[in-house]
Amino acid sequence: MEDANSYLGLFFEPIRQYLQDDAVSEILINGPNQVFIELKGKLQPTEARFVSEPALKAAAVNVAKNVGRMLNEENPRLDARLPDGSRVHAVIPPLARCGTVVAIRKFKKEKLTISQLIEFGSITEQGARLIDVIVKLHKNVIVSGATSSGKTSVLNVLSAFIPETERILVIEDASELQLQQAHTVCFETRKPDKNDKGEVTIRDLIHSALRLRPDRLVIGEIRGGEALDLLQALNTGHAGSMSTIHANSSLDCLSRIETCSLLSGIDIPLSALRAQVASAIDAVVHTARLSDGSRKITAVSEVLGLKDGEYVVKDLYRFNVRGIGPDGSLDGDFTGTGHKPSFLQEASLRNMPLDEAMFAQG
Ligand SMILES: Nc1ncnc2c1ncn2[C@@H]1O[C@H](COP(=O)(O)OP(=O)(O)O)[C@@H](O)[C@H]1O
Ligand SMILES: [Mg+2]
Repeated sequence: MEDANSYLGLFFEPIRQYLQDDAVSEILINGPNQVFIELKGKLQPTEARFVSEPALKAAAVNVAKNVGRMLNEENPRLDARLPDGSRVHAVIPPLARCGTVVAIRKFKKEKLTISQLIEFGSITEQGARLIDVIVKLHKNVIVSGATSSGKTSVLNVLSAFIPETERILVIEDASELQLQQAHTVCFETRKPDKNDKGEVTIRDLIHSALRLRPDRLVIGEIRGGEALDLLQALNTGHAGSMSTIHANSSLDCLSRIETCSLLSGIDIPLSALRAQVASAIDAVVHTARLSDGSRKITAVSEVLGLKDGEYVVKDLYRFNVRGIGPDGSLDGDFTGTGHKPSFLQEASLRNMPLDEAMFAQG
């Protein structure tokens, strides 16, 4: 497979050094005269410039051509995945007011491991153990967070806790996850062709997956109506499944699943939908990119059902910001909140005891 760095470098000469630098995770081009990069989790401006707007636009058009797509007046937006997994999104003028806008999210071959997350201070060993137990007990988990907060990375780490003995079906829009278990079957969706034919959606693949005897479903991301299919799968005995969703908090995650379910076009009363969400989802792992650029698992929460029509969600373990240093770096710690998991006993019966002290209020 062609190395996308050299391949993109061919078209985007002015940013070649950032394409080659593994410490750079994203490159954001806002017209010919402004290029930002994300370096070690921090966004920063660069000196890179394109010769002219036509040169920049031509580069974007060439990238589109190389992946068999069009970027022109009629199709002014490009959402493409390159052969190496990097993602490119481009919008050309007049939609983009400052000239051609391009965002390149580089694909990291090396996935983060739980040990690295602990080393980076994204979670503690105790927190990691809690998540491990949640997965091993077959709880259904959603990883929530903003764009680029680390959801996919955390989902990958969660999936690594699934025992080798189980059959795992993975469904993604664009293959990002890397499961190590031998018995893993991966699917990827397909966009419609030029004639609007041949599309295969996450929903279609969930339907197939359910007929392929999964022990676990791992779904890259919930964005739309597939939320309802997932809920139904979870409520009909596919415990231990996991996915991610764009949301601002553990509680917001449940509302987002509701909203996405409504996009399925299937008419279902809100109260019934809420009951489905509350019974399907057992835990939420919330991720965030904090103001100092660090990414953390800011909360591990348990969904306890509904009370008076509202979700009952309790944080079990979370990151508390205690102060901000002179350089903007955050000071904080991970503690419990005084709520113990409902599965404490189940965990010790299954020989995975959790240290109760970690749940004491911090
Ligand atoms: N805990 C972390 N510490 C440092 N970098 C991280 C962490 N989690 C994710 N990243 C990096 O942040 C970028 C975005 O992560 P990703 O998991 O793709 O986010 P999301 O799925 O929320 O958009 C990737 O380059 C990833 O390697
Ligand atoms: Mg993601």
